[in-house]
Amino acid sequence: MDGLAAWRRAERGVDRFFGATANPLRQPGTLAILALALLVGSGLWLYAVLDTSADRAYASIDALAPYSPGGLLRSLHRYAADALVLFTTLHVLRELLHRRWRAVHRFAWLTGVVLLPLLAAIGIGGFWLHWDRLGQFSALATAEWFDALPALAQPLARNFLDAASVGDRLFSLFVFMHLGLPLLLLFALWFHVQRLSQVAWWPPRSLALGTTGSLLALALAWPVRGQGPAELATVPASLALDWWLLWLHPVADALSPAAAWALVGAGLAVLFTLPWLLRGPARAPAAVVDPAHCNGCRRCVADCPYAAITLVPHPLRPSRMLAQVDADLCASCGLCAGACPSSVPRRGGAPIATGIDLPQRPIAALQHALRALLDRPPGLVVFACDHAAVPAGADVLTLECSGQLPPSFVDQALREGAGGVAIVHCRDCVWRLGVRWTAERLAGQRPPRLASRVPRERLCLVPADTGEDAQAAAAIAAFKEKLLQIKAPT
Ligand code: HEM
Ligand code: SF4
Ligand code: SF4
Repeated sequence: MDGLAAWRRAERGVDRFFGATANPLRQPGTLAILALALLVGSGLWLYAVLDTSADRAYASIDALAPYSPGGLLRSLHRYAADALVLFTTLHVLRELLHRRWRAVHRFAWLTGVVLLPLLAAIGIGGFWLHWDRLGQFSALATAEWFDALPALAQPLARNFLDAASVGDRLFSLFVFMHLGLPLLLLFALWFHVQRLSQVAWWPPRSLALGTTGSLLALALAWPVRGQGPAELATVPASLALDWWLLWLHPVADALSPAAAWALVGAGLAVLFTLPWLLRGPARAPAAVVDPAHCNGCRRCVADCPYAAITLVPHPLRPSRMLAQVDADLCASCGLCAGACPSSVPRRGGAPIATGIDLPQRPIAALQHALRALLDRPPGLVVFACDHAAVPAGADVLTLECSGQLPPSFVDQALREGAGGVAIVHCRDCVWRLGVRWTAERLAGQRPPRLASRVPRERLCLVPADTGEDAQAAAAIAAFKEKLLQIKAPT
């Protein structure tokens, strides 16, 4: 079983407990945003009570009783930081397994890699602000790690030789880092999603509440406590380490600081160069606009998941706008063709002429295939996205994405003799928004809307990923059964 199949199996397993919408494995990116929001909120409060001088910082934090509101916020801050690392790791793993480092994904991938060292620096630097034994250990270990770099003229570790060397100026630098780097992180995060439209920033309410509640429960069950004030004259004998945030120190200790640099550098270099190391197959041609059939309605602009379409003045019709595709940004997903109001069957069976289309997979070819199927006529028309399961025992019309299907095709199939229409799609759209747009268009909530006269009971959406062919076939068999019952007079 490959990695992606194993991940999907795990997702389906977790679905049983949380349901697909609130499954944390399906949206670790949004959970990372939630953890970040909790961090910023609790961090601002902690900053208000923190004494930013080297000799009073420890006491100002330690004064927060574990079960007081301040103490709980302090523990929440730590556990949210751990959660941010966990969710980011899952997010990277998920994107990696979906091979989202190349083509349209490259920008998000590369900016994502930049977020990793920032996250590590913010996490480690947070411990120094408390200036307890753990903060002391971490600051010294980090200084020794940097001292392994040949470029440094003076060893940084000298700054931690005795209490006098850690003055308020050095401590102000710690504070500045822990406040300044998160601002840089937020900016980098904004950059990270620049090439995506309709970004899913926030997890569903139930998941957000559940995750916040779990972190608060951790804070109540195991409140974070200081490990005694820093004493630079002595080396801490034993410390409770936070492995999520401080893993680098034991790694540098076990290998050597230079080897830890090599490991971290190689890891980041591999991630950063992945788009060039593993390029994958050539990109499919971008969507093409037909100026004769584009009326500048903007629907394709609104539905494109990668913000690849803009409107420009129509060169031939001065009062109109025209869609324009940036080929570098286009994922060739076909969602725009499904959104275009010109993607409708024409009177007298004339070939369809849409405003925007995939040249390698035109809507006219899909209509041609549907026409051939309706000539029989079939009990059931099955449309399936290329990234979903292939149900056996059915004539399947394939699409790049379920979002490529204009709702008018469903109407046409049912009007011209099909008993029902099933649309098989992947569980989490590989093109981000296709499944959502399909459901909303068919429910009449988003243009182009499926006509209200269409009997919805003759329509079925089948979520099934590649490899779930048997499940898809079973869902379609059940739908056929239901259609028979609808037909039979009771
Ligand atoms: C602070 C850490 C991070 C946060 C909070 C975060 C959050 C997000 C969010 C909210 C999205 C948009 C999801 C959507 O609407 O489809 C996204 C997309 C993405 N992220 Fe991250 N991310 C982080 C780090 C990373 C890292 C380290 C990588 C990889 C090295 C990465 C790779 C990606 C990719 C490839 C996408 C685009 C997916 C697509 O093209 O469909 N992210 N991220
Ligand atoms: S095919 Fe259309 S919807 Fe998809 S990315 Fe390209 S322009 Fe956007
Ligand atoms: S949806 Fe069609 S008609 Fe509307 S702007 Fe896009 S290409 Fe033009």
